[in-house]
Amino acid sequence: MSRFYYFSANLFVLTRAEIYIRSKIDERKTNDTYRSLKPENGLVDFCSNDYLGFARSAEISNAVAQYLKQHTHFNGSTGSRLLSGNTALAEKLEQQIAQFHGAQAGLIFNSGYDANLGLFSSLPRRGDTVITDELIHASIIDGVRLSYANRYTFKHNDLDSLEDKLKQARGNCYVAVESIYSMDGDSAPLTEILALTERYEACLIVDEAHAVGVFNRGLVHQLNLQQRIFATIVTFGKALGAHGAIVLGSELLHNYLVNFARSFIYTTAASFAQLAGVKIAYSFLEQSMAERKKLADNIALFKTHINTQGLIESTSGIQSIIIGGNKQTASAAGLIRDEGFDIRPILSPTVAAGSERLRICLHAFNTDNEIITLANLLNQKTDG
Ligand SMILES: Cc1ncc(COP(=O)(O)O)c(C=O)c1O
Repeated sequence: MSRFYYFSANLFVLTRAEIYIRSKIDERKTNDTYRSLKPENGLVDFCSNDYLGFARSAEISNAVAQYLKQHTHFNGSTGSRLLSGNTALAEKLEQQIAQFHGAQAGLIFNSGYDANLGLFSSLPRRGDTVITDELIHASIIDGVRLSYANRYTFKHNDLDSLEDKLKQARGNCYVAVESIYSMDGDSAPLTEILALTERYEACLIVDEAHAVGVFNRGLVHQLNLQQRIFATIVTFGKALGAHGAIVLGSELLHNYLVNFARSFIYTTAASFAQLAGVKIAYSFLEQSMAERKKLADNIALFKTHINTQGLIESTSGIQSIIIGGNKQTASAAGLIRDEGFDIRPILSPTVAAGSERLRICLHAFNTDNEIITLANLLNQKTDG
C-alpha cells in the first residue's frame, strides 16, 4: 500500500492521516471547541459527581482495605466473566444490588458507558425502534448506533412529542430516558412516561446515573415503578464514589445480556478490589441518611441564594446556568475559578450550540459558606 507524504509549513513530514487529524484539531481550536485534560487543582469542588462525598471518604476507604485484607483475592480478574474472570463476589453483589433496587436481577459492566453500549447495541435489532429524549447521554446514542435500529428523538420531557414518535415506531420499541439529566439536572416525568409507553407496548429503560444516592435507591424506586420498568442502569462512579455500573431488570434480560452484550462479553472483568469498593459503597449508602440530608440542604441553600438568569430548574445535585457561546461560557467559568471554586464550563458539542452552560455540582461536603459565596459570585459574574 502506498503512503502519501506532505510537507507542512514547518517541514515536518505528515502522512495523509496526520493531515486529517491536524485539520480536525485546528478546526476545534478555531471554533473554541478544543478539549484538553486538566490535572487536579486543589480548588473547592463544585464539579465532580461525588455528590455524597463517598469517593473521598476515609471511612469507606478503610472499610474497603479491611475487606480486602480479610478476603483472599487476585489483583486482577484474569479474564472476562465468561472465561476466568467470574467470582462468587461478582454474582453475590449483583443479587444484592438487584434486591436493593427492587429488581429481579442485575448484570455488572465495567462502566456506565459499557452498560449502555452493551444494552442498547444488543437488544434492539435492525427494524426495531429506539426513542430517546433529545438530551439522552452519548453512551445510549452510541449503543443504538451499533444496533442498526432506527432511533427517533423526542423533545426534552415532552409527552406529546414522545407520543408522536411512539405512533411512528416499527418493530420492538424501546424508550430511553434519564431519571436525572446529566447536563440539565432536571428530572423526567417518569410516571407519565411509563404510562404512555405501556399504552404503546414499548419498553421503558431508565438511566439512573445521577439519581441513585442523591435520591437514595433512585427515582424509579422512590416512585415505586421498579416492577414495571423494563431495565434500569445504575452507575457506581457518581454518588457511590466507585467505578462500574449495573443493568437491572428481569432474569431473562440478565441471561440475554450475558449472551449478546458485546461490551460485557469481550472485556476483562472488574477486579476483586473494584467490586469490593462497590460492595462497601452500597453498605454505606444504606446508612447515608445524614449525607443525603446535608446534600438536600445544600441544594436548597444554593437555590435560595442564586438569582442569576439562565438557571435550569432542578432539584438534583446538578445546577446548570445557561450562558451561551463557548468563549463566553469558558470565560465565565474562568472568572469563578480565579476565586478558588472549581466549576466547569460545558461547551458545544457536548451540549447543543447556544446552550453552553456552567454546570455546578453540589455535594454533601460543601460548606454553607462555600455555597453562599459561589452563588453570590455566579450572580455577579453571569448576569450582564
Ligand atoms: C446519564 C449517564 N449515563 C451513563 C454515564 C456513563 O457512566 P460511566 O461514567 O460509569 O461510564 C454517565 C456519565 O457520564 C451519565 O451521565
